[in-house]
Amino acid sequence: MTAAQDSRNSYAPADWAGGYRTLEAEQAYGIDDIEGTIPAGLAGTLFRNGPGRFERGGVSYKHPFDGDGMISAVRFAGGRAYFQNRFVRTEGFIQESAAGRILSKNVFGTLRPGGFWTNAFDFGFKNVANTGIVYHGGRLLALWEAAPPHRLDPASLETFGLDDLAGVLCGGKPFAAHPRLDPATGDLISFGVRTGLQTLLYIYRLSPDGGVRIESEHTVPGFAFVHDFALSENYWIFFQNPMALDPLPFVLGFKAAGECLRLAPGEPTRILLIPRNGGPVQTIATDPFFVFHHVNAFEREGRIVVDSIRYEEYITTQEDRDFRQTDFSRLPEGWLWRTQIDPANGRVEARPLLRRSAEFPQVHPDRVGRPYRFAFAAAVHAAGRNAPLQAIAKLDVETGQALFHSFAPSGFVSEPIFVPRPDGTAEDDGWLLAMVYDARRDRSDLWILDGRDLSCLTRLGLKHHVPYSLHGTFVPEVFVHF
Ligand SMILES: [Fe+2]
Repeated sequence: MTAAQDSRNSYAPADWAGGYRTLEAEQAYGIDDIEGTIPAGLAGTLFRNGPGRFERGGVSYKHPFDGDGMISAVRFAGGRAYFQNRFVRTEGFIQESAAGRILSKNVFGTLRPGGFWTNAFDFGFKNVANTGIVYHGGRLLALWEAAPPHRLDPASLETFGLDDLAGVLCGGKPFAAHPRLDPATGDLISFGVRTGLQTLLYIYRLSPDGGVRIESEHTVPGFAFVHDFALSENYWIFFQNPMALDPLPFVLGFKAAGECLRLAPGEPTRILLIPRNGGPVQTIATDPFFVFHHVNAFEREGRIVVDSIRYEEYITTQEDRDFRQTDFSRLPEGWLWRTQIDPANGRVEARPLLRRSAEFPQVHPDRVGRPYRFAFAAAVHAAGRNAPLQAIAKLDVETGQALFHSFAPSGFVSEPIFVPRPDGTAEDDGWLLAMVYDARRDRSDLWILDGRDLSCLTRLGLKHHVPYSLHGTFVPEVFVHF
């Protein structure tokens, strides 16, 4: 615990802020700082995506989500591990690298220098490709929800360019950062939202052989901020947050789009149940709340169960301070809630399963859309007070029993990825791969935890920090020899 640490906090704010520094260098090396042993059955590649650059030409981006997408890969083979990182060469990244200054308006807060005169009536956005990454049907795609994905070389992480998925995304259709692999079919299901006074919702199906098609297309009344979705045996499930966009400051160039969002007073959260086999969409209004991420969904006795991280308020930018000085005590907590929907009568029941801030939930890949028992997530060190994510959590959603492994005070975690043990049968028999920034050493480590008891098996020490990332994926392919 450092002197600067508030005694009520599990962390020192300056330590947390250290994870939001640009990682300029692009590197590739074998990891030799290893404590413990890499599990024999762990083979493949962990890809992670997140903002890696937070300023340009001496001017800081206003929000971390405006940061340029950087891919990290940790490859495992033969008991060894290899690290690599590379920025996604988006059009904005290439142009701003050449110019040495910010040229683009961003979604979450960063405007071009020059205020009103350079930002007014500019409706373009920089596709920063920083939110998610998926490998399916031979394509490695860096995802950003308001635009098509960028395709990358899984061996070199080189950017090939925007991918319209064989023309399916013609006209720049958006492709969200939250696809889900349906274990029943092996297909990757994704969606895209184009919103305004009303919303167009596209659902995409990507087959393992590389085929892509629009599964269905829907018009949803009103503005929709939808970041994630869930699937169950018979439904695609979307929660339409009760949000409104105040357009004037955006149009006039005083604010970025993300800063003009607010909770719409008196509006409910709307649950969209889209039958997978066609049929009319059912829209069910319920109490207002806000959701970025769903854990999982399934059907039981005619009811649809959806587990999500739920906030009672929308998380707004703290305009009085730099994002590196975020006051976590002013942020709403995100608890894991269970929502049960009866499609026959539209009745909704909801209750919290975990009363502690958590985010980036995961389940065993074979349990997606099916009854399940274990949710894994990143969580705060202690209940009762919001804070950065410093712990890995495991929740038994049947019994309510929760386990935590905290890296406080100097460790700050990112989304843990669950990798099933190849010969395992139990739902929690596998490993959690978690990138943890250790402020004390100003380095990041990839930790391998046992999914059964959250014990730490292995620490892979990197030679530098990795800025806090958003989403990742694990695939059994290694793609390179090392
Ligand atoms: Fe997300």
